[in-house]
Amino acid sequence: MSKKYISIREVKDYVGQEVTIGAWVANKSGKGKIAFLQLRDGTAFFQGVAFKPNFIEKFGEEAGLVKFDTIKKLSQESSVLVKGLVKEDERSKFGYELDITDLEVLGDSQDYPITPKEHGTDFLMDNRHLWLRSRKQMAIMQIRNALIYASYEFFDQNGFIKFDSPILSGNAAENTTELFETDYFGNPAFLSQSGQLYLEAGAMALGRVFDFGPVFRAEKSKTRRHLTEFWMMDAEYPFVTHEESLDLQEAYVKALIQGVLERAGQALDILERDQDLLKKYLAEPFKRISYDEAIDLLQAHEKDPDADYEHLERGDDFGSPHETWISNHFGLPTFIINYPASFKAFYMKPVPGNEDRVLCADLLAPEGYGEIIGGSERETDYDKLLEKIQANGLDPKDYDWYLDLRKYGSVPHAGFGLGLERMVTFVAGTKHIREAIPFPRMLHRIKP
Ligand code: 4AD
Ligand code: MG
Repeated sequence: MSKKYISIREVKDYVGQEVTIGAWVANKSGKGKIAFLQLRDGTAFFQGVAFKPNFIEKFGEEAGLVKFDTIKKLSQESSVLVKGLVKEDERSKFGYELDITDLEVLGDSQDYPITPKEHGTDFLMDNRHLWLRSRKQMAIMQIRNALIYASYEFFDQNGFIKFDSPILSGNAAENTTELFETDYFGNPAFLSQSGQLYLEAGAMALGRVFDFGPVFRAEKSKTRRHLTEFWMMDAEYPFVTHEESLDLQEAYVKALIQGVLERAGQALDILERDQDLLKKYLAEPFKRISYDEAIDLLQAHEKDPDADYEHLERGDDFGSPHETWISNHFGLPTFIINYPASFKAFYMKPVPGNEDRVLCADLLAPEGYGEIIGGSERETDYDKLLEKIQANGLDPKDYDWYLDLRKYGSVPHAGFGLGLERMVTFVAGTKHIREAIPFPRMLHRIKP
């Protein structure tokens, strides 16, 4: 069956045929008898070529000139239905171009604010609703999509059930300083920071479960790694220790990278992402070191010329410069295992025989992209968990349902959460997390 319209991505299947494509004019050039249109439709960008004599031949002198003139006068971001013959074109990276035979203007576009010249970040962010149309932003969104697809595929293949956690919650999931509070019919409610606690209930009901949804953190930090609204994928599994969980996390992150290489190669090309480096992360085992080993390493190298970080004592938390240095040192995704309990969440299980450390790991992406996963084994003992809840200044009444999970058939279980935008930034090789989500929410940005 022949289709009325095809997408630019599909032109490879229509070489030598006349097709119609709905598109926008991203850019235009040419002079005299020839016009070049950079066409985009969200699937790809490619070039259409209009040649005046062809139009005169097809439509006659008068009508042909009118048609060609319309094409010459098209302004940036006009929308068009363009008809033409698909040709292979070895000179372009895309590999194909369109020999235009007819064109109809659908929507005019005057004074499009984002021109091919350089613009400042604030201006682009104010025009995010339009900036999304640019080539680089299209590529990043395609990578984001490939990651989501690969995520669902991985969990399905590994026996996980999607279990949707609520967004409105009566209690904090991580720490109380970064909570967004809302009024819930006269009582306080919080926007979820992570679906984990609910997912633990899911794991006791259904076994392996995962969720994937927006989460919220009232982060006052203005860094290139922090959003106030981001998408997290949490996974939780019963009868698994954190040690075993690391293998699954590694397989998951590799499946995500693999999925992007397979499904979004064009996007990686557009972004000029080093794909050999991504393949290296697939081929080699991720590095695993303990928090204490990481501190020793940082202290031993703190005088090195490339060591752009402050001295840390055992028990201190890492800042971004420490994480960056560690992951660069190994050149691979690196798990930092068993952090001090003092700066980790209340639900983590202590290392047997060492109450100061908890059974957890952060996965640091290489190349300075920072933490992409936080995970741990969960406390299973009712009394110990209650004690931790109280010690963290939380009200046990808010957590009675969570404590119940330790009252009725408690089992060892572990899980982790991956921040989608951190992963997008890492795989796409972009500098700032604000480009990894369609409409970023940050300390000073809620519009558009
Ligand atoms: O390390 P976090 O805080 O872990 C949790 O929330 C656990 N409850 C997850 C679990 O065990 N199920 O967050 C998980 C991940 C981080 O590793 C990071 O990738 C991302 O979420 N993340 C952020 N991404 C963007 N902006 C922020 N402000 C982020 N905070 C965390
Ligand atoms: Mg974390």
